[in-house]
Amino acid sequence: MDDRVYIFDTTLRDGEQAPGFSMTTEEKLQMAMQLARLGVDIIEAGFAIASQGDFEAINRIAKEVKGPVICSLARAREEDIEVAAKAIEPAERKRIHTFIATSEIHMKYKLRMEPYEVLERIRRAVSYARNFTDDVEFSCEDATRSQRDFLYKAIEEAIKAGATVINIPDTVGYAVPEEFGKLIEDIINNVPNIDKVIISVHCHDDLGLAVANSLTAVKHGARQVECTINGIGERAGNAALEEIVMALRVRRDYFGELFTGVDTKELYKTSRLLCRITGSFVPPNKAIVGDNAFAHESGIHQHGVLSHRLTYEIMNPEDVGFPVSRRIVLGKHSGRHALKQKLEEYGIQYSEDDLNRIYERLKALADKKKEVYDEDIEALIYQEFMKL
Ligand code: KIV
Ligand code: ZN
Repeated sequence: MDDRVYIFDTTLRDGEQAPGFSMTTEEKLQMAMQLARLGVDIIEAGFAIASQGDFEAINRIAKEVKGPVICSLARAREEDIEVAAKAIEPAERKRIHTFIATSEIHMKYKLRMEPYEVLERIRRAVSYARNFTDDVEFSCEDATRSQRDFLYKAIEEAIKAGATVINIPDTVGYAVPEEFGKLIEDIINNVPNIDKVIISVHCHDDLGLAVANSLTAVKHGARQVECTINGIGERAGNAALEEIVMALRVRRDYFGELFTGVDTKELYKTSRLLCRITGSFVPPNKAIVGDNAFAHESGIHQHGVLSHRLTYEIMNPEDVGFPVSRRIVLGKHSGRHALKQKLEEYGIQYSEDDLNRIYERLKALADKKKEVYDEDIEALIYQEFMKL
């Protein structure tokens, strides 16, 4: 099995679908350019038939963004597939992603279709999509709540009809890691010709398990992960791209030789671009890209990190492009050790009295302000030593 894990970014489709995250064509284009710089393998640029705006954005991205495969979502219907094909037409490399639900609850209440009709739709949609591109992904929507034998059959039919990627979505974020990993393993062991296609996973975060489920699936043989920047997406969101990529990288001892093509130094920038465009923010404690992800305030932690980074940091902030100035936060729990380090960084000659005096002022400031950043300390040092 190949060691490469393909990163399929759906920020512009499943992410953008969430309330508060809609983007204009121009904004989607900017975001897609940055995703290309980040090095994702596939950009799902939208759902072409959903609206004229979606169609135009996909089409612009297909024309102007080079590098990643450009993909449009399409229901398992000929009309959807035609519109998707038209939207991605100018792309150098293009994919149609077609889907239909395979769980009893979706088939009965949403599709109002019998299982045999769903199988027929899969056969027709996948083979129709192959007329437009030889890269066709098929998703069994609500796979994790689908009856097992029917799920195997649906996947088998999609492969027979020409699908090159089979996606297993945890549409409602219902799965738990061990169970989801076993599902991937069972699919590998029970579906004929599954070794001819890439197995993908697409996890939602309703129980806060999207990243854990995706990583467990990879450990069991999935080689494409669908995810979004900052984990945005329907309801509680999708698996966060930055967390998946960094987990695979930081825990090579656990995941083995698995790798992605992502340039991790672009992660922070990409996260902040999305925030600027959508007017959203990431919580300060968000893994990898939150403001506090590499901030150490407690004196013990600061002393540790300053003595040896690995005492409290499992990854290098520079590796995710985290800005240096936001790293050490001096606050009321901070130690003198950190302040000394700052003074030395600024090349200031100081006595023990100076240190005590500034330390007291710093604590008083921290009481009022909660967090003290480099800029505040610079101002304090300036006042103390330049006698302003
Ligand atoms: O969550 C889901 O099932 C989806 C599919 C369209 C892949 O977004
Ligand atoms: Zn989804």
